[in-house]
Amino acid sequence: MAYKLGLIGHPIEHSLSPWIHQQFMDVANIDGEYKLYEGDHAKLPEVIQQLRDHRIDGFNVTVPYKQVIIDYIDELDPAAKALGAVNTVVNQNGTWKGYSTDGEGYVRSMKEQFPSLLNEASSVLILGAGGAARGIYRAFIQQNVKRIDIANRSEQRANGLLELRQDPTVSTVLTLQQAESQLNEYDLIIQTTSVGMKPNTDEQIIRLDHLHPDTIVSDIVYQPITTALLKDAKQRGAKIHHGHAMLLYQAQLAFEKWTGTNLDVGHLVDELERKLRG
Ligand code: ATR
Repeated sequence: MAYKLGLIGHPIEHSLSPWIHQQFMDVANIDGEYKLYEGDHAKLPEVIQQLRDHRIDGFNVTVPYKQVIIDYIDELDPAAKALGAVNTVVNQNGTWKGYSTDGEGYVRSMKEQFPSLLNEASSVLILGAGGAARGIYRAFIQQNVKRIDIANRSEQRANGLLELRQDPTVSTVLTLQQAESQLNEYDLIIQTTSVGMKPNTDEQIIRLDHLHPDTIVSDIVYQPITTALLKDAKQRGAKIHHGHAMLLYQAQLAFEKWTGTNLDVGHLVDELERKLRG
């Protein structure tokens, strides 16, 4: 059977998802297509109808539809429900089930590169409190790490993430300045904001003067591949984790849900990097 897969969002013409899923299909020897269903807000009901008529097996959802898609979904998995956002939809005999694979994909990518990093003694700092940070925060809460603090420009937004945790002692909300001064307390620092995303920018969300060289610094921005923050961390002797790894592993999870195939995708991290470098 040939799988009918795709992506909805706007704009998506430069999306790497068709390339990534084609690699997966090739590796798994699975026949199928992954098409882009582009449409602005006004076109969403029409695009949804197109997917239903096409009897799509599954699709990804990206900006700006991750929340609004919930109106069209029949069932939500616990992560999607808690986050109020869906990035993967599976069609089970006409019933659309919504998932959020970003946070779990991030954790998978981290475990793949640093297998012994995450345990009940790990201390993690998240920079940012937007949609991406929410998914990652929830996934780390599920990992039972010792501590997961949040530093954000807006304190109110950071406080909003705390509803996702049960143990009140696991997280402290910090200002970006407080985070800067206590960076040496963390095993892992994750940058989740758009700061650093512009081409040729040297902007970084915090200074790394207090970084301990054993700390891993991760940036979910994948264009540029190595942000100013990651370059700085590397120069200070820290290990780094790139955003494109998360992109690959959230896709791996979606592919698993659609096809039931659990693929080893480690070798594609470098290929994706080459693709991004153009
Ligand atoms: P996403 O869904 O991709 O995470 P978002 O929901 O728009 O994007 O969240 C953006 C995040 O980047 C927020 O944490 C935002 O901080 P505020 O909550 O204070 O707005 C952060 N952000 C964006 N630009 C920033 C900047 N110049 N300096 C610091 N934080 C910034």
